[in-house]
Amino acid sequence: MDRGTKAAVLVTGGAGFIGAHTAKALHDRGYLPVVYDNLSSGFRDAVRWGPFVHGDIRDERALGDALAEHGIKAVIHFAGLIEVGRSVAKPDLFWEHNVAGTVSLLGAMRDRGVGRLVFSSSAAVYGQGGRGPLETIPEDAPKAPASPYGDTKLACEWMIQAQCRAYGLTGVALRYFNAAGADPSDQIGEAHEPETHLIPLAIAAALGDGKPLTVFGDDFDTPDGTCLRDYIHVSDLAAAHVAALEADLPAGAFEAVNVGTGQGASVFEVVKAVGQAVGHAVPHSIGARRAGDPASLVANPSRARELLGWSATRSSLDQIVADALRWERTPRYGAGVRGERKMQASVD
Ligand code: UFG
Repeated sequence: MDRGTKAAVLVTGGAGFIGAHTAKALHDRGYLPVVYDNLSSGFRDAVRWGPFVHGDIRDERALGDALAEHGIKAVIHFAGLIEVGRSVAKPDLFWEHNVAGTVSLLGAMRDRGVGRLVFSSSAAVYGQGGRGPLETIPEDAPKAPASPYGDTKLACEWMIQAQCRAYGLTGVALRYFNAAGADPSDQIGEAHEPETHLIPLAIAAALGDGKPLTVFGDDFDTPDGTCLRDYIHVSDLAAAHVAALEADLPAGAFEAVNVGTGQGASVFEVVKAVGQAVGHAVPHSIGARRAGDPASLVANPSRARELLGWSATRSSLDQIVADALRWERTPRYGAGVRGERKMQASVD
């Protein structure tokens, strides 16, 4: 997409963690991010760089109205449910929000002639897939999601690809590895409720704001027995969305691209890095494996470099932890919501 003067981009789920950082990156690059979110898990205070539309991703009519009213040229689609463990317990909810929600969005885009979509996909589409624990994952690796969450992301990719072929939409699916950290401005950061992610939970445990951390299994086939993940700074991830929006791709093209660093860190390494940043050890115990967790998910990020001209610049584990820790210590939205939001269908 050409970068016109303040071209308007719809950001579904733009009040959530990655969506808000992407809205900021769009604004910094001269776009107008229009955030569409139902605030069931996002925060109104995270919408700072353009108009806000309160709406649900399954509401095709409201989506169509937002596309028309704001003269939208492209969509970045984050809205959906994200917790891997919860998807194992409530798969129907994930299909409804993630897959049916994407059906609504694609219909609205087709009817309004919006020609570019950047989709929030996930490394969860790969699962363990027969890889060794130290092998990185290229985009053409076998797809074997280990959770209903991963299933829904893969189903959405297929659907988008078919829509690209059928209607000339240009689509890029960004398969995120593990998003973490916070914007250096400390205006926005991670605030999930309930929080399920390792880095904020380890920080909360170290600061005494949360329960001691449970390490979900130390008997995986990895060097220290805990799971390996590829942690990517959310600001790097946001930059990848802008690059995908601007990538020189023809009408009808569909591309799936890994967004990671190529470096894995184990749960124990993260716990150690958080302990060093805070100044004392993270209280933790070893628990059972969590359903749906593959032993290792580490990107081969070369295609992102070749196709999007993108690579990570802020994603060392120490930098990610330092930014996440600063955010956790900043007076901020999301602090204190614990328990106020029900475990119900929500959109991030
Ligand atoms: N972990 C713990 N204890 C906790 C929380 C997490 O040991 O209390 C472990 C998990 O078992 C896993 C690792 O820390 O091995 C990372 O877990 P997260 O919950 O932080 O992240 P996930 O890898 O489960 O999932 C994240 C995103 C998904 C995305 C995936 C891609 O939430 O949306 O990364 O790698 F698909």
